[in-house]
Parts: sequence; structure tokens; C-alpha cells
Amino acid sequence: MTPADGQTINSDISKFIGGLKPLPAFVHFSPPKIGPGEVAAVTEALTSGWLTTGPRAERFEKVMAEHLGTDGVVALSSCTAALQLGLKVMGLGAGEAVITTPLTFVSTAHAAVYNGARPFLCDVSADTGNLDPERVLEFLERECEVDSRGLPVHRKTNLTVRALVPVHYGGHPVDLGKLWPIAARFGLGILEDAAHALGTGLNGLPVGHPGHRPMEASGLASLAAFSFYATKNVATGEGGLLTASDPAMLARARKLSAYGITDARRIWERYSPRGTWAYDVDEIGFKANFTDIQAALGLVQMSRLGEFLDQRAQNARIWSEAFAGLGDLVELPEVRDGAVHSWHLYPLRLRPGALRISRDEFIMALKALNIGTSVMFIPIHYHTCYRGWLGYGEGDLPVAEDFFAREVSLPISPAHPPEVIAEAAELAARLLRQNAR
Ligand SMILES: Cc1ncc(COP(=O)(O)O)c(C=O)c1O
Repeated sequence: MTPADGQTINSDISKFIGGLKPLPAFVHFSPPKIGPGEVAAVTEALTSGWLTTGPRAERFEKVMAEHLGTDGVVALSSCTAALQLGLKVMGLGAGEAVITTPLTFVSTAHAAVYNGARPFLCDVSADTGNLDPERVLEFLERECEVDSRGLPVHRKTNLTVRALVPVHYGGHPVDLGKLWPIAARFGLGILEDAAHALGTGLNGLPVGHPGHRPMEASGLASLAAFSFYATKNVATGEGGLLTASDPAMLARARKLSAYGITDARRIWERYSPRGTWAYDVDEIGFKANFTDIQAALGLVQMSRLGEFLDQRAQNARIWSEAFAGLGDLVELPEVRDGAVHSWHLYPLRLRPGALRISRDEFIMALKALNIGTSVMFIPIHYHTCYRGWLGYGEGDLPVAEDFFAREVSLPISPAHPPEVIAEAAELAARLLRQNAR
């Protein structure tokens, strides 16, 4: 069976599909929305005489800083790089640890490991899938002891916890109002994984805005890492961005993103008539800079962010309306008071007790009906590289595990016209209805 034609339906799946007819064309999970403006801007960048980090990347950073209401940002090659460098400039290292969520992409956990540190996992809230502040507090109070510097040290491993790394899962803001007082009490910095959170807001401020950190935590590091990966709310193919409360941290992240060259801001000017060949490297850095080709694409995408977010919200509404009559067959994503959802994901959860189709069979049936989906996320502690090492087993993080077991992310990209999403949603609702117990 090829997903695109949906003609040859696996017999096991056909019993769930019954008489339903596939959509005429495959609805991809999360295609980017690229128009003539993007094509023209990239073409212009390609013929400008300069391809890598340069004036367009600088302009992109200005636009992003304005959008987020912050003084400075550094654009990077990926969110993974932003997370890695964010933790590095916070000073994280060997003998130390961070607390993060199991319901995330592996990058969030990898970032700690790249710095020689370890991720501890705390469970998520059942409504949002976001790191649950109650579980974080419980971990710090029950499993750690505060040392002479006021930092929590994990009793069993003797690792010092230095930071919280929450994720704004799917674009729903994590409860920073509850996490910051915990961070302040234990002297922890916060690095937000904002990969899904371009367009996400909380209490009237965008995620990434410095105003989320309360006065009581003013001495603590506050950073956020965004993604412009191909499926994200603004897509540059690959790309990321770091914000930081401390300008010195941001300057160091910039330097480290370009090998450690001390005057990294305007490396590109070295080749101009004003430039010089000389440079110095005072610290061994990485190669994680953002190119002008990416920036050209990103600038046009950012000018359309409002349009994209409206369409994502509209597509999410279409799914919710189609499922509204299904009662307890499914659990729909909800938005808490004070939260602005960026609708990066539409995470539907099935109620297996009410259905005779499993989550995996539902995904296969949707594929046969030409509807692309994904599952967000396979919990961190299920991956082979973390399974033995972190010491968590199945059942240790029950809310995240249950979330994963029942979750299907449905297509809401603004590249899909609402009529297409409406057809897909109607078909998916019929599929569920005819497979109710
Ligand atoms: C929650 C989360 N964090 C980090 C990343 C990594 O982003 P990037 O691909 O830009 O490195 C992703 C990517 O999908 C993600 O979903």
C-alpha cells in the first residue's frame, strides 16, 4: 500500500474502514506554506554574492527580537543547537543535571548530555502534556538536598540540579507562573524549549519575552530556544534561535556558534572592503550559525506569521468541531485560561476503552484514507540510548506514558485549506464513530 493512493487497503485495516472512501489526495502531516514571496527572497539571497551568515541574518534577528519583545537574540542552525548552547552558557557541566519532561523530542534531553550533564524527568500535566510544576517540586523536595550554595543535590546520584528545561508542548504554554517560584526557591535557571512556541503567549506576553521571569528570580538565567525546522510555525528548512536574559550569555552563545571567533557578530564583514583577515579564537566553539539563505526565507515567513497562526487556529477548530459529537470516544486539546495556543500541534487522544480500534490501527486507517499524522512524542525514557542509563522504567512517568499511548497529531498546517481539513476531519470522525464499542 502506498499512502498516497490509498487503493490497496491492508485487510486488517479495511475492517475498521468499512465503506469510507479515501480523500482524493494525501494530506501531509505538516508541510510548510511557501509562496512566491519566499521564492523571490531566496532567489535574491542566492544571487546577492553572499550566502551564509550576513546582513539578512542580522535583519532576521532584529525582526525576531521585536516580535518577542526582547533586546537580543541569536539565530542559530537549529533549536537543538540553541538548547545545547543555552545550557552551555548557563554554565552547565559534568556533575550537574537538569529537570525536563519525558514528553518531548530527544533534542531537549540530548542538550544536557552534550554538556556532560544528565536529564532528570518529571511527569506532565494530563490536560496540556506540559511539565507539571507539582511533580518538579515533589522531585526537588523528596529526592534532593540543598547544599551550602543553596542548590539542590540529587541524593542518589550526587548530581547538582542547575536548571529546569520545560517544553511548550504543541504550542500550549507551560505554566511559567508556577515554575518560576520553584526555580527561585532552589536557585535554578530556566531554559524554555520553545520549539513549538512561536506565536504562543501567556498572561499577555509572548513566550520568549523577558517579562515572564518574576522579580524574585531576577538573578537567575532565563533563556528560550525556538525552532524553524521544516514543519514548524515559521519554517526555514533548518534553523533555530536563542533568547537570553543576560547579554553576556547571548554574546558567548553567538561566539560559540561560530567556532569561538571572538568578534563573531560581523564575521561576514571580514570579506568586505572594510574588513581584515585577522581574527582570534579564545574558546573552542561549534559550527551552528544561521545562513542568509535561511534568513531570506525566514523574513518572509515572519511577515506572514499572523496569517499562519490564524489558519492553524482555524484548522484546529475544524478538527474540534468535527469531534465534538463523539462524546467520550476522544479527548480534545484544550486551552487553559490566560494561554494563547500557537497550534503547532493538534494532539488528539483516543479513549481506548470506548473504541474497538487501537491508536496504531487508527493511524494506519487514516493513512489508508490519505490522512497523514504523527505521534508526539515517544517518551524520552523509551528510547534505547536513555532506557538503561536514566533508570526509569515503564510506569514511572504514568501521565506522559498514557498521553503517548493514546496520542495522534493531526494535520493543521496553514498549507492545507480549511475545506481539505474539514473533509479529513469529517472522515476521521466517521471512522471513530463506526468503531465505537
Ligand atoms: C520539542 C522540540 N524540541 C526541540 C526540537 C529540535 O528542533 P530542531 O529540529 O530545530 O533542532 C524539536 C524538533 O522537532 C522539538 O519538537
